[in-house]
Amino acid sequence: MAGSNKTNITPPRWLLAELTYACPLQCPYCSNPIDYATYQSELDTEDWKRVLTQARKMGAVQLGFSGGEPLTRKDLPELVKHARDLGYYSNLITSGYGLTEEKIVQLKEAGLDHIQVSIQASSQELNDHIAGTASFQHKKEVAHLVKKHGYPMVLCVVIHRENIHQMPEILAMAEELGADYLELANTQYYGWAHANRDLLLPTKEQFEQAEQIAQAFKEKVAGKMKIYYVVPDFYEDRPKACMNGWGTTFLTIAPDGVALPCHSARELPGLDCPNVKDYSIEQIWNESKAFNFFRGFEWMKEPCSSCDEKEKDFGGCRCQAYLLSGDMYAADPVCSKSPNHSVIQEAIDSAKASALADNEKPLIFRNSKNSRRLS
Ligand code: FES
Repeated sequence: MAGSNKTNITPPRWLLAELTYACPLQCPYCSNPIDYATYQSELDTEDWKRVLTQARKMGAVQLGFSGGEPLTRKDLPELVKHARDLGYYSNLITSGYGLTEEKIVQLKEAGLDHIQVSIQASSQELNDHIAGTASFQHKKEVAHLVKKHGYPMVLCVVIHRENIHQMPEILAMAEELGADYLELANTQYYGWAHANRDLLLPTKEQFEQAEQIAQAFKEKVAGKMKIYYVVPDFYEDRPKACMNGWGTTFLTIAPDGVALPCHSARELPGLDCPNVKDYSIEQIWNESKAFNFFRGFEWMKEPCSSCDEKEKDFGGCRCQAYLLSGDMYAADPVCSKSPNHSVIQEAIDSAKASALADNEKPLIFRNSKNSRRLS
C-alpha cells in the first residue's frame, strides 16, 4: 500500500464502529459527512467481526458502536457478543430511539458494557424540533430503563444556541433521570454543524453563563454525578489536541468500511483512506498513506513546527484547519498564533448577525434529501 513506514507507531486503543449512516433523527449538528446519503453500502456482519477481531489483536480495548443510529442494525447483539468474547469494553452510542426494554435485556445478555443516550433539550417541544422526530418521551423512558437494567446512566446533550438557554433545566432533567454521567458537549463545527454554524454558534456571553451554571451544578452534585463539559474551541485561544494526535489512539471505521483517522477525515483531499475490505487493520494502521499523513510532527509548517506547545496540541485539528482555511497543513485557526485566526472572529460575528436578523434562515436538518441536495 502507498504509505510510508514509520517507526514508533503505537497501536490503536479506541475503535469507533460507525455501523450505519441510517438514523431516524435529523439533528442539524450531526457529525456524519454532509454527503452521507451517497454512501449506500454497509459492511456485513462478517466484515465487522473481522474488523473487531483484527483491531483487538492490535491492542484496541475500547469499542464504540455508533452511526447514524446503531440500533437500526439487526446484527447489533451479534456484534456485541463478538466484542464481549474478544474482551472489549463496549459502548453503545445511541439516540435511544427504537430502544426497548427487550432490546436492552438482549444487549445486556450479549455483554454490552455501557449505553450512552443522547437527548436534544430539556423540553419536549425543543427536543422534538432539533431531533426532527418526536422522541422526547421515549428517550426519557429509555433513560429510566437503562438505569433499571444496571447500566450507569450516561446522558449526552449537545449544546448550541438553540438550547443553551435551557442549561438549568437540562441539569435538573439529568438529576431527575438519575444520570451518573452527563456529557455537555458544546457543538463541534464539522459536517452538518458547519453548514448550520450561523444558527448554532452561541455568543461568548451565552457560553460563559452556561459554563458558570454547569460548574456550580458540578460542585452541588459532586460524588453523585460526574459532569464532562466539552469546551467550545471557538472561544479558546489554543486548539484542542484532536484525536490525541493523528494515528496515535483512535480508529474509526465508516459504514462502508473506509478506515478513518478521525470521523471527518474522508472530507480531506488526497488521503486515499483505505477500506477494510481491501486491507487488514494492521496494514491500514501501520502502513497506509492516510494514517501516516499527519502522524508525528514532520508535516507541520510554521507557526506549529517551532511551537513549544506542539507536543501538547499537535497543531490542533486537521479537519478544522481545512474547513476554515482551505489548508489542511495549516495551524488550526482556533490558535491565536495562526495567521488565519481572524476567521474565528468572523464566524462569531456572522453567527451574531444571524441571531439578530429579522428573517434568520432555517436550520438544515440532516436527512437524505438535504444530503443529496448539498453533496
Ligand atoms: Fe479530523 Fe480533528 S476531526 S483531525
